[in-house]
Amino acid sequence: MTVETLVQRAQRRRFLKPFVGELLWPPPMWLMRQAGRYLPEYRETRAKAGSFLNLCYSPKLAAEVTLQPIRRYGFDASILFSDILVVPDALGQTVSFVEGEGPRLDPIEDAEGLARLDSAQTGDKFSTVAETVSLLRQQLPDETALIGFCGAPWTVATYMIGGRGSPDQAAARLMAYKDPETFQRLMDILVESSVDYLSRQIEAGADVLQIFDSWAGSLADNQFDRWVVAPTRLMVARLKEKYPEIPILGFPRGADQLSASFASQTGVDAVSCNTAMPVSGMVQLSEATGRVVQGNLDPLLLVAGGKQLDDRVAEILGAMKGRKFIFNLGHGILQYTPPENVSRLVEQVRSAA
Ligand code: CP3
Repeated sequence: MTVETLVQRAQRRRFLKPFVGELLWPPPMWLMRQAGRYLPEYRETRAKAGSFLNLCYSPKLAAEVTLQPIRRYGFDASILFSDILVVPDALGQTVSFVEGEGPRLDPIEDAEGLARLDSAQTGDKFSTVAETVSLLRQQLPDETALIGFCGAPWTVATYMIGGRGSPDQAAARLMAYKDPETFQRLMDILVESSVDYLSRQIEAGADVLQIFDSWAGSLADNQFDRWVVAPTRLMVARLKEKYPEIPILGFPRGADQLSASFASQTGVDAVSCNTAMPVSGMVQLSEATGRVVQGNLDPLLLVAGGKQLDDRVAEILGAMKGRKFIFNLGHGILQYTPPENVSRLVEQVRSAA
């Protein structure tokens, strides 16, 4: 397949300009989890779909909810509507989403549980998601970039082993300590299937990828190198070999001081910073790595709104001006965010001088 060159796509889609080294002001912007329950039109489509996973596997409806925040706010990038837990679901693990409680999986406890995963059967579900990407490329404005994504192996594994979200990811960290061979096999399976999943998204029209490692911050530094850096580096290498024109954003949430070495060791083109990263840390990261930096407004401040929001946005913009920067939140948008606060934010970023 011939992918249009990045330089060509960056001429039409401003989101991509930082990735070809062009400084752009006002900076491109999008918000993590920009499609979701804070939007009444999302809640309506979500109700039509029945279950959350059904929404992920209904290309027309998934494309519709991806487009909703673009229609409202005109962000520079859209993100495919799906979920990081589509990968374990496609591997045959039982995954469900309990209303108001989050994901539930039938947990993998040992090598036997791992053996029940079946990499040979992922194709149907992955190609259904790829169909959403194709629909989106037809329906999106030509100037809007399309982000494909998956979870990083470590973060996906925390759900597969813990069976749900947890504050400390203890179940996965414990398995990684006690039975690193089994844990490594799980990483290998996830690297393999995630690369396949992302490749299909690229083939269907994704412009850029983001790898979400939401729980990267729970690991000691040696474990971070082994379970965050190493699998991500492998994925990036495999993807870059096939698709050198597709930029990759990494989001090692909570990596803090390890962010710069994460960037250089994994080979990602951009690092997304969470809220706890100081603005001065984003500046340093930009200088030390030369990569695109993305971040990092507190999602709770977007719920609060008002002058505090305006002041903090101005502070971030002031520090990042003149750098390869993408404006975003430090984590996903919260359900109770007033949509009018998002409008106010967009207006402020768009008028950045
Ligand atoms: O707009 C977008 O950003 C695209 C879609 C997207 C979703 N999840 C939709 C979703 C993306 C990129 C994700 C990533 C994701 N999913 C992550 C990584 C980012 C992060 O937030 O840390 C993680 C850890 C998950 C796993 C997951 N999915 C959890 C923990 C939950 C429950 C939490 C909650 O808010 O209920 C989900 C469900 C989910 N994924 C929802 C959405 C819109 C809400 C469920 C619903 O609508 O019923």
